[in-house]
Amino acid sequence: MGLLNFLISKSIMYIPGPIVGLFAKSYIAGPNLYDAVRVTHELNNKNIMATIDILGEFISTKDEAKYYKERCIEILDTIDKEGLDANLSLKPTQMGLLLDKSFAFDNIREIVAHAKSLNNFVRIDMEDSPCTDDTLEFYRKLREEFPGHVGTVLQSYLRRTPDDILKLADGPMNFRLCKGIYNEPRKIAYKDPYIVNRNYTYSLELLLKNRAYVGIATHDEKLVFEALRLIEKYDYKKDEYEFQMLLGVDEELRDIIVSAGHRLRVYVPFGKDWLPYSRRRLKENPNIGRHALRQLFGI
Ligand code: FDA
Repeated sequence: MGLLNFLISKSIMYIPGPIVGLFAKSYIAGPNLYDAVRVTHELNNKNIMATIDILGEFISTKDEAKYYKERCIEILDTIDKEGLDANLSLKPTQMGLLLDKSFAFDNIREIVAHAKSLNNFVRIDMEDSPCTDDTLEFYRKLREEFPGHVGTVLQSYLRRTPDDILKLADGPMNFRLCKGIYNEPRKIAYKDPYIVNRNYTYSLELLLKNRAYVGIATHDEKLVFEALRLIEKYDYKKDEYEFQMLLGVDEELRDIIVSAGHRLRVYVPFGKDWLPYSRRRLKENPNIGRHALRQLFGI
């Protein structure tokens, strides 16, 4: 990591919002649902699916959770009305998980029931490790009641992930598999990127062996290569898996995957609460901030 990248990643929490906003533009559809609809139409025109996410996490009141629940329902209705090839992603803490577990479950259940009524699908994002057990428990209950309309996420940095797959293999599985983005203690998470990748491939193989539907969420071409090999090995048809990428990240790789005839879904976040999301992206890849700073200061 160069000095500038190092400084960006260390000082990310102190970089003023307007500067973070400079690079946020490419990662976020815009402040309003209308922006997500526009971006999703553009993606659909390129034969790319979307999952729409309203930004806002770690809320502090039940009223905020109810607000986000209503917005999620509005997103599903809008997807339906606009005829978009898109589903919904939501975060359990946004639904109140850290305030009241059963309240959060009821909120998510209502959204998934609504998705079912519109023949759509809800992906429950995975947050940091204090949320893992509850999120998987919610998924287990909801997949029984609404099979085919709900899925969640597994993170290959977690040591527990292969065990979680085996425990959940007693029913139909629908997972997004990603590396994981939160800062977790070594006790529970691999820190070495090589092992995170090995655990990704190992977990993906376990999922495919058990005929899970997998959203292969990565921009790491090494993992895309391994995934393509495994898809072939387990004789998966094109509609039995999908690749997933974040908005604004490595569009070249995205186009290569789509041109080869694989289904691909882009994560389309929108909303006024863009700052924490953007700080996370910047921390993850300071190169982006570097480009923005170069433009700003001519460095
Ligand atoms: P890696 O980080 O090694 O990146 C590979 C290459 O891609 C990098 O060299 C870089 O060039 C480029 N790249 C990656 N991320 C970039 C970025 N943000 N900006 C610019 N370039 C970037 N995590 C989580 O904990 N819970 C979740 O629910 C989700 N959900 C989710 C949905 C989708 C659709 C995706 C693609 C990812 C997530 N993630 C997530 C995030 C995930 O865990 C992970 O942190 C990122 O995808 C980065 O990991 P990669 O596999 O891309 O590899």
